Amino acid sequence: MRVKYKPWAVQYLVDHPDVAKEKFDPNDDFFKAPKIALEIGSGKGDFILTLAKRNPDTHYVSVEVIRSVAGVLAKKIVDNKMDNILLYPVDVEFLFEAIPDGFFDVIYLNFSDPWPKKKHAKRRLTFHKFLDQYHRLLKENGKVIFKTDNTGLYEFSMEEFKNSKFVNISFIDDYVFDETNDAMTEYETKFRAEGKVIHKIIAQRS
Ligand SMILES: C[S@@+](CC[C@H](N)C(=O)[O-])C[C@H]1O[C@@H](n2cnc3c(N)ncnc32)[C@H](O)[C@@H]1O
Repeated sequence: MRVKYKPWAVQYLVDHPDVAKEKFDPNDDFFKAPKIALEIGSGKGDFILTLAKRNPDTHYVSVEVIRSVAGVLAKKIVDNKMDNILLYPVDVEFLFEAIPDGFFDVIYLNFSDPWPKKKHAKRRLTFHKFLDQYHRLLKENGKVIFKTDNTGLYEFSMEEFKNSKFVNISFIDDYVFDETNDAMTEYETKFRAEGKVIHKIIAQRS
């Protein structure tokens, strides 16, 4: 994804180390919460902000690798006085090693970059190596919830999930937005306005 460099946003991350962390410390008091959710690739954070406002007892971990984008989200976290979102402006792969097994109740992947070229397949966030990590990171019966407009990525992800350890997998070809249990992302708002079909996969940890 191409994004304009925003110096203020990058500086904002540096100035707000309580909101934006580089290293994952599982013993941080933030994680003493009844439920912990992870979103990988939060973008500017519409989704996670909506859910975090709706569920104050759940603590949300947001990972967004583009610092100009992550800085915009950090500002929203501060401006909205959210104390249940912690942001990691890094590539999620750098965090995996520090996160213990069975840590999250749910992992959200929203409109992940499709990486359409075959040679880049291993970068897709539903590539089987990522699914193995998600399986490890989830609590028993925890879920991965994935939404995309990209049919190629959806079909690829279907195969990856079918060949994974996940169970009770739902493939929703034409997902009708569920206002009560879900939240719109920036991309979803745009794609739905363009009349695009949204696909969704929900998979449970065995
Ligand atoms: C297409 S955007 C979608 C943003 C948002 N989820 C939405 O639906 O509006 C995908 C986002 O995922 C981020 N991303 C991709 N791979 C990532 C990774 N390995 N770790 C962290 N963030 C990642 C990108 O920087 C980008 O902001």
